[in-house]
Amino acid sequence: MKLFDSFDLGGLELSSRVVMAPLTRRRATNNNVPVNIMAEYYGQRASAGLIIAEGTSPSPNGVGYCNMPALCNKEQMNAWRPITKTVHDNGGKIFLQVMHTGRVGHVNNLPAGANLFGPSAIAQLGEVATYHYGKQKYSVPVSMSLEDIDIAVKEFSICAQLAIKAGFDGVEIHGAHGYLPNQFMNESSNIREDLYGGSRSNRLRFLYRIIDACINAIGEKKVGLRVSPFSYADVTENPIELRQLYLDLVSHLNSKNLAYLHLSHMGDPYTEKFTLWKEIRELYNGVLMLCGGFTMEKAEEAIQKREADLISFGRDFIANPDLVDRFKNNWKLMERDKEFWYTNSSRGYTDYDKYQQ
Ligand SMILES: Cc1cc2nc3c(=O)[nH]c(=O)nc-3n(C[C@H](O)[C@H](O)[C@H](O)COP(=O)(O)O)c2cc1C
Repeated sequence: MKLFDSFDLGGLELSSRVVMAPLTRRRATNNNVPVNIMAEYYGQRASAGLIIAEGTSPSPNGVGYCNMPALCNKEQMNAWRPITKTVHDNGGKIFLQVMHTGRVGHVNNLPAGANLFGPSAIAQLGEVATYHYGKQKYSVPVSMSLEDIDIAVKEFSICAQLAIKAGFDGVEIHGAHGYLPNQFMNESSNIREDLYGGSRSNRLRFLYRIIDACINAIGEKKVGLRVSPFSYADVTENPIELRQLYLDLVSHLNSKNLAYLHLSHMGDPYTEKFTLWKEIRELYNGVLMLCGGFTMEKAEEAIQKREADLISFGRDFIANPDLVDRFKNNWKLMERDKEFWYTNSSRGYTDYDKYQQ
């Protein structure tokens, strides 16, 4: 097994095991509708084995960030179509990451009538950019009622259906980085006393329902899941409990036959303290994708040692649209250019050139 070998992802033929990780770039309209330049951006990166398009909300309640795209109505679906078409015309494959921001956001960023939801009324610490008031503290979320939960589960499955209609090859449920499903999983953001809080199985129930709903909507082989054990939002969690939570989750997933499980991490996961990725690899019987701090060499090693089936790259895909060719030919990578990650322009978005000798 090698990094540049093709890969059969549940019947979808990927040209290599190099995946473009989901990257929020905030280029959509203020109504969360994708724009034409996004077709150019993703089309430029179609030589990735698979593109996982940026976190996209399944609900008006889930657009906590300015200018993030959504996919919950016909206008948004039609606007995604040219994007998936361009990627396919250029020989690529593309999943959509379905991301409900939950409490990570500000009410000013939501459309009229929408609610900033969370499992409990506990605000995320820190500040977030808003459309009209600059940076503001995260809003205190509305604790979701059982009916709100039912609606949110349904919204994920409708989004999955719309994604297939818009031409995506599948969806990735965003269960990582402190967004809504992860907020239910963590004790620091979930103090509910009903069926969705307390025990590990209760805290995982919301995610399990989303997974089942998406599988029912579009089929198991079109559904992936991303989680981020011991990273991002997990810093204040009890590590013993957390490890067991992820092992419970992975055991549960063994009967689900998903397209893949995607683990993301900030920092070096290959430290003595962090053995969870290896434990998960042993326990999990499906396709495993890893992400976070990989170089080509580290990725090749992980694939050859069979620690993963796929490796996704985030920051390097931003400035290197031809990342796969650069890797294959040992061409120099462009510097990571943070300044333009979230600006609403083509600068630092579609203006990175292919390698020129
Ligand atoms: C600008 C930017 C936007 C990101 N947006 C998302 C996102 O929408 N969804 C997600 O799951 N992760 C997101 N991430 C995390 C990346 O997918 C990836 O996990 C991270 O960059 C680590 O991988 P790397 O070391 O290869 O860059 C983002 C990262 C960056 C730098």
